[in-house]
Amino acid sequence: MIYRSQQLALRYFAASMLLFGVMIAAGLLTSLYYLRVGFLLDVFHFSTAKILHIDTLVLWLLMGFLGSVYWFLPLELEREVEWIGLAQKAFWIFVGTVAAVAATLSFVQYGGTSAASLWLINQGRKYVEAPRWACVLIAAVLVLFGVNVVATALRARRMTGILAVLIADLIPLIVLFLNAFSAEPNMSKDLFWWWWLIHLWVEATWEVFIGCVLAWSLLHLLGASRAIVESWLYVEVAMVLGTGILGLGHHYFWIGTPSYWLGIGGFFSALEPLPLLGMVIHAIYDAGAHRHQILNRPAFAWLLAEAFGNFLGAGVWGFMMTLPQINLFAHGTQWTASHSHFAFWGAYGCAVISVIYLVLQKIRAGRGDFESQAWKWAFALLNIGLVGMSSALLIAGMAQAFYERAIGGSTFQAFLTAQANRWMTEGLQARVLFGLVFTLGYFVLLYDFWKIGKGRRAPETTLRKEASG
Ligand code: HEM
Ligand code: HEM
Ligand SMILES: [Fe+2]
Repeated sequence: MIYRSQQLALRYFAASMLLFGVMIAAGLLTSLYYLRVGFLLDVFHFSTAKILHIDTLVLWLLMGFLGSVYWFLPLELEREVEWIGLAQKAFWIFVGTVAAVAATLSFVQYGGTSAASLWLINQGRKYVEAPRWACVLIAAVLVLFGVNVVATALRARRMTGILAVLIADLIPLIVLFLNAFSAEPNMSKDLFWWWWLIHLWVEATWEVFIGCVLAWSLLHLLGASRAIVESWLYVEVAMVLGTGILGLGHHYFWIGTPSYWLGIGGFFSALEPLPLLGMVIHAIYDAGAHRHQILNRPAFAWLLAEAFGNFLGAGVWGFMMTLPQINLFAHGTQWTASHSHFAFWGAYGCAVISVIYLVLQKIRAGRGDFESQAWKWAFALLNIGLVGMSSALLIAGMAQAFYERAIGGSTFQAFLTAQANRWMTEGLQARVLFGLVFTLGYFVLLYDFWKIGKGRRAPETTLRKEASG
């Protein structure tokens, strides 16, 4: 038996994977502008391609998150989600809005500096650039999602630890999204608030959200003990908030904010990798404690990839640039882009894929063995592609920090010299090559999602032979 809410989750996952593909296409396109001067000049702007890439990034992950909760919530409370009919309609509004925005950005691209442009074409907030009408609808979908969760918990008269953390997290998650609507003319003030969107929204509220989703995954995947999973969740949440709120200061270095942020930001953000390390230890602990029970290897592999990717991409890569002494040179270079890719992928991309494998096994239960060669190929190609891209950008970014900033003193001429440096140009070429590896991995992943668990069950004798062999 499958709840209506879970059917909705499947739709969200399908939409999420489709958008993931659009994101990859837009990313590949964006990377080509770096290889040839004048690429698509006056036909399709770099900025539009990049907006499509990073906005679809935010949206495919958000859709994956909503899908995960619509899947786990009825299991957690053992009942259908309240107002599910409305949520089903909201899904189509969400999808229609995203399609309309993608079409606007592709065919209209930009408008004049007028209120009409803000409403109809682009609000200009990096990562959530969609026009205002679309952001209003997306905010409404998120509010309805919050209402679904809270109303179901109230109706069930039950509250679990994971659910309590999730509900508390939904408030800042929805409120901080409203940052998309700001139209502040003062650039310092604008950046001051914009970082709340990146740092507090994406790094803190999303991190807590995914913590809850992974807690549910661990319960279902490994049969882990709820007491242990919930205790880890509380520790991680306390640490994320304890280091992350003042850690926001690591973005207040060079934007006209008072200099006391250098010390506060440097200190607290340097502690930020600790909760991420805690998550790795947690995952390894669970793997060790429940090794014999792993019946869904792809979901488990992606869960471990999440723990390590989050620690490396967000924690280690972020730490490299977080002290003001280094950030002075690294700020806004390809080094930042290296961290952005690794962190988003490690922390959230891998988690969404893990949940989808978990869900596929449930809906295909009894039809065949949940094993394939394809999942391993997809896992390898996607992760090699992503780590390759991040490494190429790290090298390019370090060359940029060194030649443009440290030696050249940040002049325009120094910028041009750094752009022509071999470490830089070859780094950007390597990004395209690894991007193609990643793209191949995406197609193998889709193929595996379609196929895995559908084949015929292996006869018992073969199973016994494999087990003893
Ligand atoms: C085929 C794969 C991909 C390619 C070729 C690619 C390429 C690019 C390019 C060229 C940019 C613009 C950088 C700039 O403004 O100079 C970019 C930005 C970005 N991409 Fe990707 N990307 C890919 C996949 C991904 C994935 C899988 C993620 C995350 C899960 C991601 C997250 C981001 C983010 C967060 C930014 C904004 C970075 C910043 O401005 O600091 N991309 N990407
Ligand atoms: C899931 C967690 C994280 C995600 C998704 C993430 C993502 C990002 C993104 C997308 C940016 C670039 C924003 C832009 O300029 O467009 C950024 C910048 C930055 N992140 Fe993270 N991050 C995470 C965690 C961390 C952690 C834990 C640290 C430090 C220990 C960190 C340190 C930094 C620093 C210092 C910058 C600014 C780079 C610059 O000055 O150009 N991040 N992050
Ligand atoms: Fe940050």
